[in-house]
Amino acid sequence: MSQERQATELTMIKTADAYGAELWDYYKTKKDNREIVERDDNFIDGDRNGYGGSVYFAEYKNWSPVEKKAIAYARSRVLDVGCGAGKHALYLQKKGLDVTGIDVSPLAVKICKFRGLRKTRVLSFEQIDKFPSNSFDTVIMMGNNFGLFGSFRRAKNSFASS
Ligand SMILES: C[S@@+](CC[C@H](N)C(=O)[O-])C[C@H]1O[C@@H](n2cnc3c(N)ncnc32)[C@H](O)[C@@H]1O
Repeated sequence: MSQERQATELTMIKTADAYGAELWDYYKTKKDNREIVERDDNFIDGDRNGYGGSVYFAEYKNWSPVEKKAIAYARSRVLDVGCGAGKHALYLQKKGLDVTGIDVSPLAVKICKFRGLRKTRVLSFEQIDKFPSNSFDTVIMMGNNFGLFGSFRRAKNSFASS
């Protein structure tokens, strides 16, 4: 593929993939950016101090205590839902676990692949039934990703059906 075509495709992806664009910019420039979140219910959080590309690429030593505590429970075949730049997935893969990272963002998944994550898919958490049942021993949803479910009831139903 020509460089011009690659650049055009990247621009097209970036306009539809805000998280991916944030991650991609940090991956390429190592310059942090300011994250503003706008939810479907019109809640806008423009003051996410400390959030930005570098958080999504942070090494284990810079993770929060709760992240370190949670990751210690991961066992065997792990599904990382909304894996972002892959910091948790890559950490577990390095420990020898069989990790699959899924993310709805094509750019995030591309970054994970570039960083060495062996199993990745562009997939929404709503599509985890694409995996055969009993594919995973552990599911992780880090970085507030449990909020993707939108409600406790939906979380319970999604896990029950997978
Ligand atoms: C707050 S970031 C967390 C990334 C990573 N888990 C971490 O802690 O560094 C949220 C991630 O979830 C992804 N995401 C958003 N909606 C999703 C969906 N429906 N299914 C899967 N991933 C989704 C975003 O693209 C983004 O990479």
